[in-house]
Amino acid sequence: MIRAWFSTFIYSEPLMGSGLGRFNADLAVECLALRDYDREGRAWSRRNYPGGYTSYASMNELHRFSSTFSGLERRITRHVRAFARALDMDLRGREIRMTDCWVNIMPPSAAHSLHLHPLSFVSGTYYVKTPRGCPGLKFEDPRLDRFMAAPPRLPGARRANQPHATYPARAGNLILFESWLRHEVAQNRVEAERISISFNYNWT
Ligand code: NI
Repeated sequence: MIRAWFSTFIYSEPLMGSGLGRFNADLAVECLALRDYDREGRAWSRRNYPGGYTSYASMNELHRFSSTFSGLERRITRHVRAFARALDMDLRGREIRMTDCWVNIMPPSAAHSLHLHPLSFVSGTYYVKTPRGCPGLKFEDPRLDRFMAAPPRLPGARRANQPHATYPARAGNLILFESWLRHEVAQNRVEAERISISFNYNWT
Protein backbone atom coordinates (compact mmCIF):
# COMPACT_ATOMS: atom_id res chain seq x y z
CA MET A 1 0.00 0.00 0.00
CA ILE A 2 1.31 3.45 -0.89
CA ARG A 3 -0.15 6.54 0.74
CA ALA A 4 0.53 10.23 0.19
CA TRP A 5 1.78 12.11 3.27
CA PHE A 6 2.93 15.67 3.91
CA SER A 7 0.90 17.07 1.06
CA THR A 8 1.24 20.67 -0.11
CA PHE A 9 -2.03 22.43 -0.81
CA ILE A 10 -2.62 25.39 -3.12
CA TYR A 11 -5.98 27.18 -3.17
CA SER A 12 -7.38 28.77 -6.32
CA GLU A 13 -10.86 30.27 -6.53
CA PRO A 14 -12.61 33.29 -8.04
CA LEU A 15 -12.67 36.12 -5.47
CA MET A 16 -16.45 36.51 -5.80
CA GLY A 17 -19.42 35.40 -7.84
CA SER A 18 -20.36 38.62 -9.60
CA GLY A 19 -19.28 42.23 -9.99
CA LEU A 20 -15.67 41.33 -10.72
CA GLY A 21 -15.35 43.56 -13.78
CA ARG A 22 -16.25 46.75 -11.95
CA PHE A 23 -14.26 45.81 -8.85
CA ASN A 24 -11.12 45.09 -10.86
CA ALA A 25 -11.50 48.29 -12.88
CA ASP A 26 -11.55 50.28 -9.61
CA LEU A 27 -8.57 48.37 -8.27
CA ALA A 28 -6.58 48.90 -11.49
CA VAL A 29 -7.16 52.66 -11.32
CA GLU A 30 -5.90 52.73 -7.72
CA CYS A 31 -2.87 50.56 -8.50
CA LEU A 32 -1.78 52.82 -11.36
CA ALA A 33 -2.39 55.96 -9.29
CA LEU A 34 -0.31 54.47 -6.51
CA ARG A 35 2.62 53.95 -8.87
CA ASP A 36 2.40 57.60 -9.94
CA TYR A 37 2.28 58.76 -6.34
CA ASP A 38 4.77 56.39 -4.70
CA ARG A 39 8.17 57.87 -5.51
CA GLU A 40 9.92 55.83 -2.80
CA GLY A 41 8.40 52.61 -4.16
CA ARG A 42 9.49 53.43 -7.69
CA ALA A 43 13.05 53.99 -6.47
CA TRP A 44 13.01 50.70 -4.52
CA SER A 45 11.59 48.87 -7.55
CA ARG A 46 14.34 50.21 -9.80
CA ARG A 47 16.88 48.47 -7.56
CA ASN A 48 14.93 45.32 -6.66
CA TYR A 49 12.26 44.70 -9.31
CA PRO A 50 13.88 45.85 -12.56
CA GLY A 51 11.40 47.16 -15.09
CA GLY A 52 8.44 46.69 -12.75
CA TYR A 53 6.75 48.49 -9.89
CA THR A 54 5.93 47.06 -6.48
CA SER A 55 4.77 48.85 -3.35
CA TYR A 56 6.17 45.96 -1.27
CA ALA A 57 8.78 48.08 0.54
CA SER A 58 6.98 51.43 0.62
CA MET A 59 3.20 51.08 0.83
CA ASN A 60 2.49 47.58 2.06
CA GLU A 61 -0.57 48.16 4.26
CA LEU A 62 -2.90 49.31 1.52
CA HIS A 63 -5.90 47.62 3.21
CA ARG A 64 -5.62 50.16 6.04
CA PHE A 65 -5.69 53.26 3.85
CA SER A 66 -8.03 52.56 0.96
CA SER A 67 -11.67 51.50 1.08
CA THR A 68 -11.23 49.57 -2.18
CA PHE A 69 -8.37 47.62 -0.66
CA SER A 70 -10.15 47.06 2.64
CA GLY A 71 -13.07 45.67 0.61
CA LEU A 72 -10.59 43.33 -1.03
CA GLU A 73 -9.24 42.33 2.38
CA ARG A 74 -12.73 41.49 3.64
CA ARG A 75 -13.38 39.25 0.66
CA ILE A 76 -9.97 37.55 0.78
CA THR A 77 -10.26 36.84 4.51
CA ARG A 78 -13.27 34.58 3.89
CA HIS A 79 -11.16 32.50 1.50
CA VAL A 80 -8.21 32.33 3.90
CA ARG A 81 -10.53 31.01 6.64
CA ALA A 82 -11.79 28.32 4.27
CA PHE A 83 -8.22 27.40 3.32
CA ALA A 84 -7.13 27.19 6.98
CA ARG A 85 -10.12 24.91 7.68
CA ALA A 86 -9.20 22.68 4.74
CA LEU A 87 -5.67 22.41 6.15
CA ASP A 88 -7.07 21.39 9.58
CA MET A 89 -5.24 24.29 11.21
CA ASP A 90 -5.95 24.83 14.90
CA LEU A 91 -5.98 28.61 15.21
CA ARG A 92 -6.59 28.38 18.98
CA GLY A 93 -9.58 30.67 18.69
CA ARG A 94 -7.43 33.52 17.43
CA GLU A 95 -8.34 35.86 14.63
CA ILE A 96 -6.60 35.73 11.26
CA ARG A 97 -5.37 39.07 10.06
CA MET A 98 -4.02 40.52 6.83
CA THR A 99 -0.66 42.02 7.83
CA ASP A 100 0.68 43.19 4.47
CA CYS A 101 -0.92 44.02 1.16
CA TRP A 102 0.95 45.45 -1.78
CA VAL A 103 0.68 46.06 -5.52
CA ASN A 104 2.80 44.54 -8.30
CA ILE A 105 2.80 45.95 -11.81
CA MET A 106 4.77 43.97 -14.38
CA PRO A 107 5.42 45.66 -17.69
CA PRO A 108 6.93 43.67 -20.57
CA SER A 109 10.26 42.05 -19.57
CA ALA A 110 9.79 42.30 -15.78
CA ALA A 111 10.15 39.09 -13.75
CA HIS A 112 9.98 38.08 -10.09
CA SER A 113 12.55 35.52 -8.95
CA LEU A 114 12.08 32.63 -6.53
CA HIS A 115 11.13 33.68 -2.98
CA LEU A 116 8.95 32.89 0.03
CA HIS A 117 7.07 35.04 2.56
CA PRO A 118 8.56 34.93 6.08
CA LEU A 119 6.62 35.90 9.24
CA SER A 120 3.19 34.91 8.00
CA PHE A 121 1.24 31.64 7.70
CA VAL A 122 -0.80 32.09 4.54
CA SER A 123 0.12 34.28 1.58
CA GLY A 124 -1.41 34.80 -1.79
CA THR A 125 -2.05 36.84 -4.85
CA TYR A 126 -5.15 38.35 -6.38
CA TYR A 127 -5.12 39.13 -10.11
CA VAL A 128 -6.42 42.49 -11.28
CA LYS A 129 -5.28 42.68 -14.89
CA THR A 130 -3.87 39.75 -16.81
CA PRO A 131 -3.22 40.35 -20.51
CA ARG A 132 -3.46 37.20 -22.60
CA GLY A 133 -0.18 35.27 -22.49
CA CYS A 134 1.19 36.91 -19.33
CA PRO A 135 3.11 34.63 -16.93
CA GLY A 136 1.46 32.62 -14.17
CA LEU A 137 2.60 31.80 -10.66
CA LYS A 138 5.10 28.95 -10.49
CA PHE A 139 5.53 26.94 -7.28
CA GLU A 140 8.43 24.71 -6.39
CA ASP A 141 8.28 21.42 -4.49
CA PRO A 142 9.49 22.48 -1.02
CA ARG A 143 11.52 19.24 -0.69
CA LEU A 144 13.59 19.79 -3.84
CA ASP A 145 16.80 20.46 -1.91
CA ARG A 146 16.41 17.12 -0.07
CA PHE A 147 15.96 14.87 -3.04
CA MET A 148 19.61 13.77 -2.87
CA ALA A 149 20.25 11.23 -5.64
CA ALA A 150 16.63 11.11 -6.80
CA PRO A 151 16.06 10.70 -10.54
CA PRO A 152 14.04 13.34 -12.38
CA ARG A 153 10.30 12.77 -12.85
CA LEU A 154 8.81 11.57 -16.13
CA PRO A 155 7.31 14.34 -18.28
CA GLY A 156 3.89 12.77 -17.86
CA ALA A 157 4.24 12.30 -14.08
CA ARG A 158 1.07 12.52 -12.04
CA ARG A 159 0.39 16.01 -10.72
CA ALA A 160 1.35 15.13 -7.13
CA ASN A 161 4.76 13.88 -8.30
CA GLN A 162 5.73 16.90 -10.38
CA PRO A 163 8.50 19.16 -8.99
CA HIS A 164 6.81 22.38 -10.16
CA ALA A 165 3.26 23.64 -10.54
CA THR A 166 2.30 26.72 -12.52
CA TYR A 167 -1.04 28.45 -11.99
CA PRO A 168 -2.13 30.74 -14.82
CA ALA A 169 -2.73 34.37 -13.85
CA ARG A 170 -6.44 35.05 -14.36
CA ALA A 171 -8.05 38.39 -13.50
CA GLY A 172 -10.58 37.91 -10.70
CA ASN A 173 -8.86 34.79 -9.41
CA LEU A 174 -7.34 34.36 -5.99
CA ILE A 175 -4.45 32.01 -5.19
CA LEU A 176 -3.53 31.09 -1.61
CA PHE A 177 -0.61 29.02 -0.35
CA GLU A 178 1.27 28.42 2.88
CA SER A 179 3.88 31.16 3.22
CA TRP A 180 6.87 28.80 3.27
CA LEU A 181 6.17 27.60 -0.27
CA ARG A 182 8.67 29.11 -2.70
CA HIS A 183 7.32 30.64 -5.90
CA GLU A 184 8.30 32.86 -8.81
CA VAL A 185 6.87 34.70 -11.79
CA ALA A 186 8.62 34.25 -15.13
CA GLN A 187 9.39 37.19 -17.37
CA ASN A 188 6.37 38.96 -18.81
CA ARG A 189 6.74 38.49 -22.57
CA VAL A 190 3.57 40.24 -23.70
CA GLU A 191 3.32 43.91 -24.61
CA ALA A 192 0.97 44.84 -21.79
CA GLU A 193 1.10 45.38 -18.06
CA ARG A 194 0.07 42.64 -15.68
CA ILE A 195 -1.33 43.87 -12.35
CA SER A 196 -1.60 41.77 -9.22
CA ILE A 197 -1.99 42.35 -5.49
CA SER A 198 -0.08 40.21 -3.02
CA PHE A 199 -0.68 39.79 0.69
CA ASN A 200 0.28 37.98 3.88
CA TYR A 201 -1.87 36.70 6.74
CA ASN A 202 -0.98 35.99 10.31
CA TRP A 203 -3.00 34.57 13.20
CA THR A 204 -2.89 36.77 16.25
NI1 NI B 1 5.43 36.10 -3.44
